[in-house]
This record gives sequence, structure tokens and C-alpha cells, in this order.
Amino acid sequence: MESSVITQVQKEDVQVSPKTGQVSRSALKQPRSCNIFKALFCCLQVQDGPKPPLPPPSQQPLLESQDNGMVVKQSEISLLPEVKSHDEGKICVVIDLDETLVHSSFKPINNADFIVPVEIEGTTHQVYVLKRPYVDEFLQRMGEMFECVLFTASLAKYADPVTDLLDQFGVFRARLFRESCVFHQGCYVKDLSRLGRDLNKTLILDNSPASYIFHPNNAVPVVSWFDDVDDAELLHLLPVFEELSKAEDVYARLDELRGH
Ligand SMILES: *[C@@H]1O[C@H](CO)[C@@H](O)[C@H](O)[C@H]1NC(C)=O
Repeated sequence: MESSVITQVQKEDVQVSPKTGQVSRSALKQPRSCNIFKALFCCLQVQDGPKPPLPPPSQQPLLESQDNGMVVKQSEISLLPEVKSHDEGKICVVIDLDETLVHSSFKPINNADFIVPVEIEGTTHQVYVLKRPYVDEFLQRMGEMFECVLFTASLAKYADPVTDLLDQFGVFRARLFRESCVFHQGCYVKDLSRLGRDLNKTLILDNSPASYIFHPNNAVPVVSWFDDVDDAELLHLLPVFEELSKAEDVYARLDELRGH
């Protein structure tokens, strides 16, 4: 029963239903118990349709605090630590977790790659995780070419243990979770301008366009994955990322790859 909450949302995504997946702020702040499961994962999808005008994110600090008379804008504090010496000059790729690299549910399946216990309101639930085909090869190669960062709108108590199991090669230099997202019009947005990296050296790989609504020109889109064993998207993306890894400016190279 619990799993149907997740499955339902994802089915709508697969069918590209014009229904909006927006959730009101109050619903999120006071989740009823039936929303807890949905709330664990990043299932808030915005469907295709008229897009609201983009705000200039850098001009909208999340909060300002005063410290010794100095005004510190939250938006000026980088989400990422300084670049490590072996990543110097590399492009930073922000990689999403759910429906990009794995698919998880509460519904028991006998072919799960990982089963991860997650505590929700004092009860431990098993999360069944399937790895997308070629994810191991993909992450290994990506780690050689880029500074890779995991960025998920899911909660750390789920996504962190999953990433421990998934990232066998230690590819992710940093992990960012829901609290690093900006909550904007019912969606968790990954605001790339807060990473602390040059935007012309930053890419985002995500199945949900809502995640990169502030920076669509930095995006490498990927189709949502649930359980298709014949899926080869990650394999097919590797040559694209090989090209992008040599770019001086990701905007120009992405434009070329898009055929503009
Ligand atoms: C990329 O952005 C940085 C910082 O804004 C800038 O100094 C640099 O010249 C840009 N590089 C290219 C190739 O546009």
C-alpha cells in the first residue's frame, strides 16, 4: 500500500501526463503520514507546460544573517568545498540519483541490487533499490573525466546509504541532498549558481527538468528509468560526456551537440 504512493507519481511521469505534480508548501511542511513515503524520495515532478519566468537566482538570497556587522548572504556561501588538486581544470558534473542512476521503492522485489533500511518516524522500512543498467561503467568513466558531485532532492537518510553501496569507485567528491535544494514553486531546484564553481564549467545530469529550471543550458537530459533491463542510456551518454569533458565552455559545446 505504501509503495503505491511512489509508484503512482512515477507512472504519471512515465506517461508524461499534463497533470501538474506540484505540492503546496503547507502539505510539505506538515506531511500527513500517507505523504511520508513520497516525501522521502524526490518525486515532485513538474510536467511539461508553460514555464514560469525564471527568477535571477543570484539576486534572491535564501536568507541573510548578520555576523559582527557583516551581512552574509546565504547564496554566496558555496555548497561545495574547494576544488581538489587532481580535479583542477575539470568540469564539474552534478549527477542526480533517483530515476537517473537507480530506482527505489518500498515494494519488495526479489531482484533488488540493494536493500537499505531507512527509519521513518521510529519505524524501520526496507527500501528496495535497482541499479540502472551500465551504472557501474558509467560512474567509473565519469570519475576519470570530471569532478563528479551527487546532488539529489531525496533525503540523506535514504540517499547517503544508497550512494555508499552504489559508488564503489569513490567517484563522488561531494554529496548534496534535499537541504541543498531551493524550494521553488512546489519543486526542489538544484541551483547551480550556489555550487561555487564557474557555471561555464558545470553540467547537470538529471531526469527531471524541474531540477535544472534555473540553468537549462547546463543540462544533459536523460530519460527517467524505473526497471527497463534493456535501457542503455547511460552507455550512450558516455561519448557525449567524452566530448563535453574537453570543452572550454560547456554552453558552446552543448549548443553544438544539440545541433544549433
Ligand atoms: C568562464 O567563466 C569565468 C567566470 O565567470 C570567466 O572568468 C571565464 O572567462 C569564462 N570562460 C569562458 C571560456 O567563457
